[in-house]
Amino acid sequence: MNAGSVVRVNLPDSPYDITVRPGLLADIGTAIASQSKSRKVAVITDSRVGPLYRKALAAALAAAGLEEIFAMIPHGETYKTIQYLLPVYDQLLGAKIERSTPVIALGGGVIGDMAGFVAATVLRGVPFIQIPTTLLAMVDASVGGKTGINHAVGKNLIGAFHQPIAVYADPEVLKTLPPRELRGGLAECIKHDCIRDADGFAALEQNIARALSLDLDYLTELVAHNVAIKARVVEADQFENGERAHLNFGHTFGHAIETISQYQYSHGEAVALGMVGAVYMSEKLGLLDEASRRRIVGVIELAGLPVRGMKLDPQAVIDAMIFDKKVKGGKIRFILLDRIGHAVIQDDLPPELVREAVESLRD
Ligand SMILES: NC(=O)c1ccc[n+]([C@@H]2O[C@H](COP(=O)([O-])OP(=O)(O)OC[C@H]3O[C@@H](n4cnc5c(N)ncnc54)[C@H](O)[C@@H]3O)[C@@H](O)[C@H]2O)c1
Ligand SMILES: [Zn+2]
Repeated sequence: MNAGSVVRVNLPDSPYDITVRPGLLADIGTAIASQSKSRKVAVITDSRVGPLYRKALAAALAAAGLEEIFAMIPHGETYKTIQYLLPVYDQLLGAKIERSTPVIALGGGVIGDMAGFVAATVLRGVPFIQIPTTLLAMVDASVGGKTGINHAVGKNLIGAFHQPIAVYADPEVLKTLPPRELRGGLAECIKHDCIRDADGFAALEQNIARALSLDLDYLTELVAHNVAIKARVVEADQFENGERAHLNFGHTFGHAIETISQYQYSHGEAVALGMVGAVYMSEKLGLLDEASRRRIVGVIELAGLPVRGMKLDPQAVIDAMIFDKKVKGGKIRFILLDRIGHAVIQDDLPPELVREAVESLRD
């Protein structure tokens, strides 16, 4: 049996643990009961994850003497809006939750962000617990305390910082995840090692096939390794004033590609292309050597993510980047690499180089 591991997120006002262990879902009740002053807990999930895992969680909570209030939102990014949260507030307030009643997110990043926003706002804030069920939610969205919903004007424009009191990641649930979602999560894992950990990168190169074949021992190690990297970055810069920007490696191009493709490219696929564009520029500027760039492109390819063949209009991608909220004073901010495991921020790159990088993604 895999004993799993615990990663501490050491934020000054709100430290918490991320527990990663296969099979965790079945015996999570006592851990949650020990952290809750209320006998009630509110579980928020989506219409795909609910039918798969709600029963197991409900049984674990009942065994620990907790009373479950249950709310379900249709699955997918389309429903990450205020209108789908209103009935959730109705349910929670109707069931007379208290200031001490934890809200539990059981789902991917969409549910994590939405349930987190409910936890941040209902009764002016209640404890929040995350049970992430996608690789992306485990390695990325479970650390950092960002919560929120989309608005017609753009993604994640309404939200709050609200740290969880605990995160429980059970890699076993990744067995039902659509393969494309698994690959999307791997894009963020590649990103983490590229910006912070050369040894981690080498290990990922060796083992990525084990992730794709759902080797639980490896997935447990991978999730723990990645939450630790993200935790260290967030600890150093909780409110995104400095080095947390490194987490946007691949995302400047990525967000634009995602938008212009009208979401034909998933987030992870768009970030994969974005990382390829960023290392192209890193090499052209003499920051990164060719062999390192090839290794990075190679690992993205091994993950089954796109590295070329982008059919989008380069000018449209560039225009979308200029509209991105990360533009500072009219200049596009890029995160580049000067070696594997180390990122640098570049604010004013020649527009011709940016264009060349976008065009290179078409070949
Ligand atoms: N708060 C943060 O720091 C942060 C970071 C990254 C991303 N996000 C947000 O996360 C969202 C994307 O998250 P996501 O990629 O997890 O998408 P998601 O939550 O939409 O999940 C993807 C799909 O997989 C299904 N699913 C989830 N777990 C499953 C499982 N174990 N088995 C079978 N199906 C399962 C879901 O129902 C959904 O249809 C975006 O809205 C993004 O803004 C937030
Ligand atoms: Zn991302």
